[in-house]
Amino acid sequence: MKNRDAELVEKIVALKKRRNAVILTHNYQLGEVQDIADFVGDSLDLSRRAAETGADVIVFCGVHFMAETASILCPDKVVLLPDMNAGCPMADMITAERLREKKKEHPQAGVVCYINSSAEVKAESDICCTSANTVGVIESLDAREILFVPDQYLGHYVSARTGKKMILWPGFCPTHVRIKPERIKELKREYPQAKVVVHPECRPEVIALADEVLSTGGMCRYAQRDEVREMIVGTEIGIIHRLRKENPGKRFIPVSEQAICPNMKLITLEKVLWSLEEMSPEVKVPEGIRLRAKAAVDKMLEGKSKTKGQKSK
Ligand code: 13P
Ligand code: SF4
Repeated sequence: MKNRDAELVEKIVALKKRRNAVILTHNYQLGEVQDIADFVGDSLDLSRRAAETGADVIVFCGVHFMAETASILCPDKVVLLPDMNAGCPMADMITAERLREKKKEHPQAGVVCYINSSAEVKAESDICCTSANTVGVIESLDAREILFVPDQYLGHYVSARTGKKMILWPGFCPTHVRIKPERIKELKREYPQAKVVVHPECRPEVIALADEVLSTGGMCRYAQRDEVREMIVGTEIGIIHRLRKENPGKRFIPVSEQAICPNMKLITLEKVLWSLEEMSPEVKVPEGIRLRAKAAVDKMLEGKSKTKGQKSK
C-alpha cells in the first residue's frame, strides 16, 4: 500500500469508529476501496447487509440506486454516497412517468423492476429483483404477462429460462455490452480448461457461450469451488481484484479490459474520508416514495420469490 493510501485508511478507520459507521462496498469498486470495506458484495447481499446493520451511518461505495436502496430500507440511518455523480446509466434509461404510461398499455401485467432503477421506478413496481434472484422472482408471480424494466438483456435471459411472457423495456448496461462473444471464443481456445462465467446483463450471444450465468456475488462463491481452477470472467473488471484476493493460485481472465463502469470508479479513498468528515453527500428518499418502493424491495427480501442460481446450462 502506498504511504498516502495508508494515511487515508488510518483516518477512515478512526472516523468510522467515531461515527459508528459501516462501509458497504460493491464488487466493482476500486481495489483499495474494497479493501477498507466492512462488507463487499453484490446488490442483493448489500441490501440485506444494509437492512441488518446496527450502525448509525452507512457509507455506500457503489452507485446511486444502491445507496437509495439502503435509504429505502433504513430511513433512520444516514446513508452517504461519497460521490453524488456515481449513477447507473441503465437505471437512468427509465423514469416513473414513462413506466406509468407503459403500465396503462398493459394493465394486466405484473411489474418487476431490476434493482438497478430509481426509488420512483421501484415505487411503481410490484416487486424488485437483483441479478441473483430474477429467475425465482419471475417464477413466483402468478401474472400471465410481466412488464420487466429496465434491462432488456436480463429480461431476455430470464424469459428464456422461465418461459414466461415478458414485455421488455429497451434498457441495457453500456459496460456489459462491451463484452463480445468473439473474444470469449478466442479465450476458450487459449484456456480450454477454463469455466466461462458471465453476468446476466450481457447480450444473449455472450450468455449462450457461458457455463454459468451469475450475479457478481454468485461469481465469487462459484470461484471458490475446487473444480474451478481457471475462470474466464464476463463482467466489469473490478471484480477481478476480489476473485484474485480470495483465490490465490487460481487464474482469472477478464473477457474485456474495456468493461469498466466509470461511475463505479468515481468512489476513491479520499472521497470516502471526506464523506465521513462532512457527513455528506447524503442520499435520502422522500417518505411517500420510500414506503411504496419499500413494499417492492421487501417483497423480494422476504423471499416471496424463490432464490435460484442463474445457470445457462
Ligand atoms: P450485481 O448485483 O450482480 O452485483 O450487479 C450489479 C450491477 O450493477 C451489475 O452491473
Ligand atoms: Fe449500471 Fe452497468 Fe455500471 Fe452496473 S456496470 S452500475 S448496470 S452502468
